[in-house]
Amino acid sequence: MPSCCCAAGPAVRSCGAAGPIGLRDCRWWGSGGVVGAPAMRRRRGRSMRSLANKVALSCVTWLTVRFARRPLRLFWASHFRRDLLCYDLPSFQLVIGNSRDAVQRVLVRGAAQYPKSRVMKPLLSPVIGRGLFASEDPDVATIRRMFVRAIAQVDDEAVVAASFRLLEEYKARWRRDGLLKRLPVSAEMSRLTVDVVSECLFRMRFTEAESAAFTRLFFSYQKLSSPLRLFPWVGKSVFAPIRRFRQKRVAERMRALIRNRFVHALRDDSSPAASAPFARAVAERERTGEAPLSDERLLDEVAVMLLAGHETSASAMSWLLRELAGNEALQQRLRQDMQASGAPDTRAASEASLLKSLINEVLRLYPPIPIYPRDATQADTIEGRQIKAGAFVLVSPWLIHRHAELWGDPLSFNPDRFRTPSSADAVNRFMPFGSGPRACPGSRFAMAEMQALVSGIVQAFDLRPVKEPVAQPLGNLTTRPDREIHVTLEPLPGAG
Ligand code: HEM
Repeated sequence: MPSCCCAAGPAVRSCGAAGPIGLRDCRWWGSGGVVGAPAMRRRRGRSMRSLANKVALSCVTWLTVRFARRPLRLFWASHFRRDLLCYDLPSFQLVIGNSRDAVQRVLVRGAAQYPKSRVMKPLLSPVIGRGLFASEDPDVATIRRMFVRAIAQVDDEAVVAASFRLLEEYKARWRRDGLLKRLPVSAEMSRLTVDVVSECLFRMRFTEAESAAFTRLFFSYQKLSSPLRLFPWVGKSVFAPIRRFRQKRVAERMRALIRNRFVHALRDDSSPAASAPFARAVAERERTGEAPLSDERLLDEVAVMLLAGHETSASAMSWLLRELAGNEALQQRLRQDMQASGAPDTRAASEASLLKSLINEVLRLYPPIPIYPRDATQADTIEGRQIKAGAFVLVSPWLIHRHAELWGDPLSFNPDRFRTPSSADAVNRFMPFGSGPRACPGSRFAMAEMQALVSGIVQAFDLRPVKEPVAQPLGNLTTRPDREIHVTLEPLPGAG
């Protein structure tokens, strides 16, 4: 969003307290700006189509995307304090719902009225096609059941065992390739988590070269997928087709990797993938009378499982290892607490163990999916405010988890805030896995995996920070760091 001439003044106001005041009241939007409100568009209707305006539009686009590379920075102070904010933008109403009422209404009780936003399709469909994550197709319920069934077949012990086994392999490679001095945490956690999810659900995985290529491609894809590019003026710029072309090329290469490694194997009865949890869930769906999935649709769903199942955990692991690397005392406390609580054996580790609290605190401050976008299909009233049909509604754990009214000292990293058992369960203020009928079906899997990986790393190494520019959350599709985070791993005496 461009900065506004009235940014410091009252024109860009939320509707939280007074009337429904929106950007139409703002001089920048309403008269002289390149981006016009309806009145301006009428006045300039024809000239807007002229080449000169196209170029101007493209400059605004370029500035918008350039200065807002990390979209999460566009949230400002009141977004972290208010319950509900509504903006009447030139072509749609933007609503940000932070309150318990808004979360319940949009994600849970009124979920049918607030489907996943259509804006997610152009961001994700090049990679996941019609896959579950962004889908509101008529078959969404049966497809979701298929995912739930697949994940349910992998119990915590299996996740922990696979995570430990793969971590041992990775540790050997890190030693062999001299990576311990300067481990590229974000890239390595992406590869490791993609391997954990594929071993557990498909009984097979990418080769080393493929997994490196896959995670590199997905990072490039993310950089091309800023949600800001969906704003009407950005989407119509002369840069838009170039960006879409590049995004499609990257997505096609990712899909080719998935097709060759997984989809062919799922269709081949002699492959271990054909009897793995995912394949069994696909077969179960067909047994209940649903139409078989075409190869293309199967590819879409495998892509969802791989992407949703790895990028989120990898993002959380990256921030977690960075926090640990900067805090020697916390590492020591964690080792002691793990010994006492039996972690990472997830059955033994109590809810209040430091390991779980640490993971929760990372999920609070860096929720891997920072925004849950929904569309209002009908007019509604939330917190006494009018929500228009067609409004773009955001529930954002990034805001809610840092909300001044909901958390004491919200910006400080303090795992101990989760050590009282009730705090993690405070529905409507802690929601890293979403809420309602589209909440994450992989939350249990993810918690078991992250506990195993953190404990395996912390018990083997002392983590030290590397001097480098500080990474910030990218915030395009996930909160993964915008640059690589490096950490030094010093083997602990006696650790394998
Ligand atoms: C730290 C790790 C994870 C986090 C924070 C996370 C978070 C989320 C969230 C917030 C959503 C819903 C988004 C929305 O409502 O718009 C979601 C959906 C989903 N997640 Fe996760 N997730 C994680 C790990 C996993 C894992 C390990 C798997 C699979 C094994 C998984 C599979 C999925 C799937 C399939 C969906 C789509 C569900 C649907 O659209 O109905 N996730 N995840």
